[in-house]
Amino acid sequence: MSSKICLTGIKPTGMPHLGNYMGAIKPAIETANKGEFKGYYFIADYHSLITIHNGDQLRSDIREVAAAWLASGLDPKKVVLYKQSDIPEILELNWIINCFTAKGLMNRAHAYKAAVQTNTENGKDEDQGVNLGLFTYPILMAADILHINSDIVPVGEDQLQHIEIARDIASSFNHAYKKDFFKLPKAIVAEGENKLLPGLDGRKMSKSYNNHIPLLLPEKKLQKTINKIVTDSTGPEEPKDPNNSLIFDMYKFFSSNEEQEAFAKRFREGIGWGHAKAELFNVVNREVAPIRAEYDKLLADPGYIDTVLKDGADAVREVSSRQLAEIKKLIGVS
Ligand code: TRP
Repeated sequence: MSSKICLTGIKPTGMPHLGNYMGAIKPAIETANKGEFKGYYFIADYHSLITIHNGDQLRSDIREVAAAWLASGLDPKKVVLYKQSDIPEILELNWIINCFTAKGLMNRAHAYKAAVQTNTENGKDEDQGVNLGLFTYPILMAADILHINSDIVPVGEDQLQHIEIARDIASSFNHAYKKDFFKLPKAIVAEGENKLLPGLDGRKMSKSYNNHIPLLLPEKKLQKTINKIVTDSTGPEEPKDPNNSLIFDMYKFFSSNEEQEAFAKRFREGIGWGHAKAELFNVVNREVAPIRAEYDKLLADPGYIDTVLKDGADAVREVSSRQLAEIKKLIGVS
């Protein structure tokens, strides 16, 4: 097994949707199963605390997202799965690297800038509703990455700036102590733009557009949600262009080449939208049915999830406590 570290953080914000699954969960699990890297995947619960101020909700969001990843095939024997808040070393490092982070770097971070801009546009004080967790979000994220000296970090495109910031912080630290102590982490963007699963209205699938399909719906609800896909008024017998159809675009994600050819032929011959949606449902359901079954089993036994996370925390702390001890020597507090 390679000693290069591949790390990624998962924000617990409730049930993942099919776009998260196809674009992030599935590829991350495939990467882990290849065994080229030592995988460390964690639930970024302290990042969620920035917005979720309700204990019961955060607790169940954490369990749900852990169950969704495990049910999707994450093997805790191959990947260390842990919870950020179980690793005190991350928070110690968080403070240390605060002292190597220019405030101006945070002023320029997209998420903070967007919050300020929204406030300004609405005629509010620019910092209204902005807590310091949001402001320093990128520093905690850098600590997540650096506490075990990660080599690669698979992320979505929206996170690229955060990885750049982590590299900046690592360089400032290295520069101060004239030592290549931290590796400069590399972002890996798993999916090209055109590989992103579209949502029900054809835009990128996103909870904020409310065009998403939750990963784990009971069959009937999944069917109903798929029926909401926006279609035009072409009559059932009229020939249709598969290359200009949202249903076909989504179908491609869940089917083999032969299935796609057969489906395309039916489009050209004329297929009613209702039938096309039923076919799409069949292939989506084929993919998610085993995940749904496993997910329900896992949530019925939260003790198992807790054990996986606890074992993961023990394993990662072995690495991070050694690293932190070296850092403390280097900076002169021990
Ligand atoms: N900010 C990431 C997101 O919203 C989650 C995250 C937190 C993360 N810490 C990380 C991702 C460290 C990669 C590495 O998706």
